[in-house]
Amino acid sequence: MTHPVLDVRDVTKTFFTTDPPAQVLNGIDLTVRAGEFLVVMGASGSGKSTLLYCVSGMDRVTGGDVLLEGRDLTSLGDDEMSRVRLTKMGFVFQQPYFLNNLTIRDNILLPALKAAPKRKDAAVARVDALMDRFGIAHVGRHGITQVSGGQLQRASICRALACEPSILFADEPTGALNSSMTLDVMDALTDVHHDGTTLVMVTHDPACAARADRVIYLRDGLLIDSRELGPWTREQSAQREDDLLTWLRKLGF
Ligand SMILES: Nc1ncnc2c1ncn2[C@@H]1O[C@H](COP(=O)(O)OP(=O)(O)OP(=O)(O)O)[C@@H](O)[C@H]1O
Ligand SMILES: [Mg+2]
Repeated sequence: MTHPVLDVRDVTKTFFTTDPPAQVLNGIDLTVRAGEFLVVMGASGSGKSTLLYCVSGMDRVTGGDVLLEGRDLTSLGDDEMSRVRLTKMGFVFQQPYFLNNLTIRDNILLPALKAAPKRKDAAVARVDALMDRFGIAHVGRHGITQVSGGQLQRASICRALACEPSILFADEPTGALNSSMTLDVMDALTDVHHDGTTLVMVTHDPACAARADRVIYLRDGLLIDSRELGPWTREQSAQREDDLLTWLRKLGF
């Protein structure tokens, strides 16, 4: 077995902003292997996004430990945590957050330049190669309202990869896309995975989930079951989706 990139140990999360407090994560143990493509599924409100935010340091855990490449993130201060997020993690959300006064290419470049301001040439070369790879080089000078939703989401994948992260988190990256754009974005994420990037993705879509190496299922903030799918191939995609759906239905999906 390859070494773990992410080690989640007995993580709990309670929001004290409500009365009574909301206990959202109730003791999650999870190890993500280097190069693994892990999908998180579960009903709406089961805690998927909260789990992603807690393990990526976007939010603080209430209890438990989160180790990234062996380093405990829960003890880091805010500045150090921001630095780890910038240099070691990539994020793709359902709605891409881009600055509307910058071009697509400049938006993609921004975090890479912030992470390593003295290595501008390397960042530019990497970003241009990524945009080429993911089929958006020709819209690099466009504004963010001048590209399709699928192009914008592929741009957010490029931005997330520009700092060569140890792990990429995606929260319903295809949730706002039509079916052809969903396929484009899933093909891009499959390429990312095949390039060796560790990927953790939340989705409600079994066809998207069927691309993963492993699917875990949350209910009420508990990891109640998981399923190893093994490496995805296009030829087996329909069969994998059927098998996954059968499993998901047994879990009440
Ligand atoms: N900041 C917050 N304060 C209080 N409760 C919260 C907060 N954020 C999330 N919750 C609650 O935590 C629970 C889990 O939310 P979360 O967003 O993690 O669910 P999810 O599985 O991602 O759902 P969906 O599939 O709809 O995106 C929900 O009941 C939600 O209302
Ligand atoms: Mg969510």
